[in-house]
Amino acid sequence: CGIVGYVGDRSAAPFLIDGLKRLEYRGYDSAGIAVYDGEKTEVVKREGRLSRLEESLNGNFTKGFLGIGHTRWATHGKPSDINAHPHTDCSGNIIVVHNGIIENYQEIREWLKERGHRFRTEVDTEVIPHLIEEYYQGDLVSAVQKTLEWIRGSFALGILSGEEPDKIIAVRKDSPLVVGLGNGENYIASDIPAILEHTRKVYILKDGHMAVVKKDRVDLMDFKGRKVEQEVFDVKWDAVAAEKSGYPHFMLKEIHEQPRALKDTMTGRIDPERGDIRLDEITIKAEDLENIDKIFIVACGTAYHAGIVGKHAIERLTRIPVEVDIASEFRYRDPMVDDRTIVIIISQSGETADTLAALRESKKRGARIIAITNVVGSSVSREAEDVLYTWAGPEIAVASTKAYSTQLVSLYMLALKMALEKGTVDREEAVEIMREMKQLPEKAQRIIGGEQKIKELAYQYSKWDDVFFIGRGLDYAVALEGSLKLKEISYIHAEAYPAGELKHGTLALITEGIPVISLVTQEQLYEKTLSNIKEVEAREATVIAVAMEGDENIAKNANHVIYIPRTIPFLTPVLTVIPLQLFAYYAAVARGCDVDKPRNLAKSVTVE
Ligand code: G6P
Repeated sequence: CGIVGYVGDRSAAPFLIDGLKRLEYRGYDSAGIAVYDGEKTEVVKREGRLSRLEESLNGNFTKGFLGIGHTRWATHGKPSDINAHPHTDCSGNIIVVHNGIIENYQEIREWLKERGHRFRTEVDTEVIPHLIEEYYQGDLVSAVQKTLEWIRGSFALGILSGEEPDKIIAVRKDSPLVVGLGNGENYIASDIPAILEHTRKVYILKDGHMAVVKKDRVDLMDFKGRKVEQEVFDVKWDAVAAEKSGYPHFMLKEIHEQPRALKDTMTGRIDPERGDIRLDEITIKAEDLENIDKIFIVACGTAYHAGIVGKHAIERLTRIPVEVDIASEFRYRDPMVDDRTIVIIISQSGETADTLAALRESKKRGARIIAITNVVGSSVSREAEDVLYTWAGPEIAVASTKAYSTQLVSLYMLALKMALEKGTVDREEAVEIMREMKQLPEKAQRIIGGEQKIKELAYQYSKWDDVFFIGRGLDYAVALEGSLKLKEISYIHAEAYPAGELKHGTLALITEGIPVISLVTQEQLYEKTLSNIKEVEAREATVIAVAMEGDENIAKNANHVIYIPRTIPFLTPVLTVIPLQLFAYYAAVARGCDVDKPRNLAKSVTVE
């Protein structure tokens, strides 16, 4: 989503529309603006692209010098006029735009309803203006601060009120927000490109900080109102670099966004304290599962690789047999699908033609469809019975990264949910898995923090024309994705092999020096994988091992080791893939490739 806000002496609406246009690259499904005209605040919002909002304004911008705007990427509630931001309280006085997710909106909503508040939408954001209204006693800042004591989740907020039309309040927690400093006017924005044309001086708000933005002053404080000092950041990026928040490529930005994307995808869904998993959109119950003989997972590309990890997770926890299929193959082999089958469809875009065709074929044969997708309102989401959304945010680089890792956690959550319904996992184990899952974002962050070493290795080995990836079990599943990433963007020929299978064929291709990226994170397969590593070592390959922290033994059998933080072997794919994404990225950069737009590939393929 995108946020923009203006307070000054110029007309706010054209500024807002222009700012939103500059956020268009993020992709969105609805947009809206609110402008205070001196008496009341007018809110205009429309589903669809920004041009629809512009059409409905028809050049008749509300006159007014204070306003906020938003482009939405739906999480709660489908894209529609009414669900678009800004959202308002009962009186229409308090206006809020929001990026992120409010975890505990349901309890707040119930409480507010009891106190007479009426809601127009199902959107989590709507509780915020109502809660501010409830607390408002003549001081907007303290009403907002009181609200912040209750809401949980990740949020960047832009807030204004017709009662105090001299200010916008900007709030940041786990979702970016900046305050732009103009001349006799000031701005807020979720992303620098929205305001870059007007200023290069910004405060990049810190987590847990807020700003009271007036036309001639900006006060920064924490959520308790204690003043904080911050240096003004001088933006040196050009417009193109600013779209990528200063990263050289979207792919690197998206790799770095994974800790946040993982956290968002699990937010409000996993509760280790109560041993519970809550997936509102998944309606499948124990009775339904009793009548199921088999599960298919069907997808293309990276989503297919996520499916292979999903098979391990679901079979292990539910003991229901799972088959993973490539969508373009599935349809044409008369698949054994009937009304005793669940078909899980995975698609980042929700628009891939092959995947959609497989979904329709399965539906025709009577299967129950569960979709995992990143795009609310996409074709796949509309045609499936149950939808589990990954909350990765828009993915722009063609090579998928944060969509994959969030698909993995979604599959783990789905597996857990089904196993808890079916009673095939004991609570204690489920709780342990959930606890470990909660720690994945922080562990992912640690891997990203150590990227320099991976970069050096990638530069060093990028001159090779062939690279092998080996691993067993879940490590093999991740090896497939690591190899695809490398092929897609660096054009280095890469192959992923189950480590134990090399000796049955391609060992002949392992020659002196050739890089073999060896994944060894599965304790129960450790010795076996080690023997396979020794086989390639004996052929003088260069072994780059990816292993669990604390595994000193592996260093004796490898030329280089990349360590990942410890977690239970079952969950390692979420972490192991990150060094492989970074390796592919830096190898492609070293070879001078067009990383975000690799040749001959498209982000979403809508032909069969
Ligand atoms: C294209 C992309 C891949 C992607 C695949 C499936 O081929 O280049 O990166 O994994 O489509 O896309 P989906 O949107 O269905 O996940």
